[in-house]
Amino acid sequence: MRDKIVAGNWKMNNDLAQTEDLLGNLKNQWQEKEGVRVIVAPPFTNLYHAFDSLRDWPIDVAAQNMNENKSGAFTGEISAQMLTSIGVKTVILGHSERRAIYKETDELLAKKVDAALENEMEVIFCVGEELSDRKTERHFDLVKAQLEKGLFHLSAKNWDKVVIAYEPVWAIGTGETASPEQAQEMHAFIRKTIAGKYGQELAGKVAILYGGSVKPDNAQEIFAKEDVDGGLIGGASLKAADFLAIVNAF
Ligand code: G3P
Repeated sequence: MRDKIVAGNWKMNNDLAQTEDLLGNLKNQWQEKEGVRVIVAPPFTNLYHAFDSLRDWPIDVAAQNMNENKSGAFTGEISAQMLTSIGVKTVILGHSERRAIYKETDELLAKKVDAALENEMEVIFCVGEELSDRKTERHFDLVKAQLEKGLFHLSAKNWDKVVIAYEPVWAIGTGETASPEQAQEMHAFIRKTIAGKYGQELAGKVAILYGGSVKPDNAQEIFAKEDVDGGLIGGASLKAADFLAIVNAF
C-alpha cells in the first residue's frame, strides 16, 4: 500500500506573521484524515518555527531545497545536516523553478539526492515537461531522462525514502491543470519506468504526486486515478481552507 500524501509548497511566500496566521488557521480548521500524510514546505526562514509549532500535530514540515555539500564556503546555502538539526526530515528537490530559474542540472540534482539520503532525509523529487515538450511529443522522453539522471543511480533500498512529484511545467501557477487522464497517463509511465529498472514490487510502493494547479474543485477527480497518490500544491496551500479541502479530497 502506498502513502497518500498532500504536500503544500509555499514557495517564496509568508513572512513570520503570515506563517503564524496560516499555521493557526490550519490547526483551527484541522480535521483528521485517515491514511493521508500532510506536509507543509515553508521558506527557510520559517522552517524551525513551523516545525516547533507543529511538533504535536500530524503535519510534517519539508524544506523546498538544500545544498549538496556537507558544509563550507557556500554563501547563502543550507545543508542537509542543518535541516535535520531543526527536525526537518523531508526536502523537495528538482522543482521546475529550481531547474529553470536557478539552472539546476540533472547531475547537480543527483548529488543533492545523495546528500539528502545520506542524512536519512526523505526526498520529494520533481519531474515534468514544458509545454513545448508535450506539443512535440517529447514529454515521455523528457520525464524518463529526468528520472534516469536524477534517481537511477540509487540502490533499491534508497527508494523507500523517495517520493516522485510529476509537475507539468505548463500547469504550474497557470490554472491550466492537467486533465486527470493526462496525469494518470504520465504517472503510469513513471511507475513503468521505475519498474523497468527496479522491478514491479518496488515501483508499486513509490508514491507519485501530481502538482500543477490543483484546487479544491479538481483534486478529487485527479486523486481518484490509480497511479496518483496525492498532490504537491502551490498556490492553494497558502489558504488553509483550500489546502485542507484538497487534503480531504481523497
Ligand atoms: O510545487 C507545487 C507547485 O509547483 C504547483 O503550483 O500553484 O500550480 O499549485 P500551483
